[in-house]
Amino acid sequence: MKKILHISIALIALIVLVSCGGDTKPSYQYMPNMYEPVGYETYGEYEVFPGGQEAMLPVLGTVPRGYAPYDYPDTTKGSDAAKKDLKNPLEVTQKNLDAGKELYTIFCAVCHGDKGDGNGILMQREKILGIPSYAAPGRLITQGGVYHVQMYGLNSMGSYASQTNELERWQITQHVMNLKATLEGTPLVVPELEEVAGSNQSND
Ligand code: HEC
Repeated sequence: MKKILHISIALIALIVLVSCGGDTKPSYQYMPNMYEPVGYETYGEYEVFPGGQEAMLPVLGTVPRGYAPYDYPDTTKGSDAAKKDLKNPLEVTQKNLDAGKELYTIFCAVCHGDKGDGNGILMQREKILGIPSYAAPGRLITQGGVYHVQMYGLNSMGSYASQTNELERWQITQHVMNLKATLEGTPLVVPELEEVAGSNQSND
C-alpha cells in the first residue's frame, strides 16, 4: 500500500514538473512527422527542376499515348496543303457517319446549321455573322480542309482540337462532306456495304 502511495506521489511530482516547463517552445514532439512535413508543399519552390521550372517538359521527339502529331501548320500555306493533300484515313461506314452526324450536331450545327448551309441558330439570331455554306461558291471545302479548320479554327470559328479527338474529327469530316454533297446535289459518300445492299433492293 505504501509502495503505491510512493509511486503515485512520484508520478504526480513528475507530471507537475513536466507541465511546468517553459511556455516559449513545445517540450516534446512525440511524432515529429506529424508536425514537420517531409514531402514537398504544393506550390513550394524547390531546386528540383533546372532553371526554376515548375515541371519538366516531355522529352523532345516523344508523343503522348493516343495522340498523333499533326504536321500541317496554322498558316495559309498549311491550310492550302491540307486541303490538297490530307485525306480521311477512316473507312466510310454507317457507324462513322452516324457518329459524325451526332458530333456535328453537338459542335458545329449551332453555327453551320443541320444542313451545313451556314444557317444555324446563332446565325438566325445574328449572334455571329459570316458563316459560309459548305457549298459556297469560291470556297474550297475538301476533307483535308475540314479537318484542318477543326484543328486550328478560322477567324471567328474556334479550334475543336481540345474537344474532339482525331477519330471524332474525321467522323465529323465524313458527315460534313456528305452535307456539302447534298447541298450541291453531287453523289454522297456512302458505306460500300450499304451501297451493295441498296442496289440489291432496287433489283428486287
Ligand atoms: C461559332 C460558330 C462556328 C462553329 C460552332 C463552327 N464554325 Fe465552322 N466556321 C465558322 C465561321 C464564321 C467560318 C468562316 C471563317 C472565315 O472564313 O473567316 C467557318 C468556316 C468553316 C469551314 C470552311 C473553312 C474553309 O477552309 O474555308 C468549315 C469546313 C467549317 N467551318 C467546319 C466546321 C466544323 C466541322 C465545325 C464543328 C466541329 C464548325 N465549323 C464549327 C463558324 C463556326
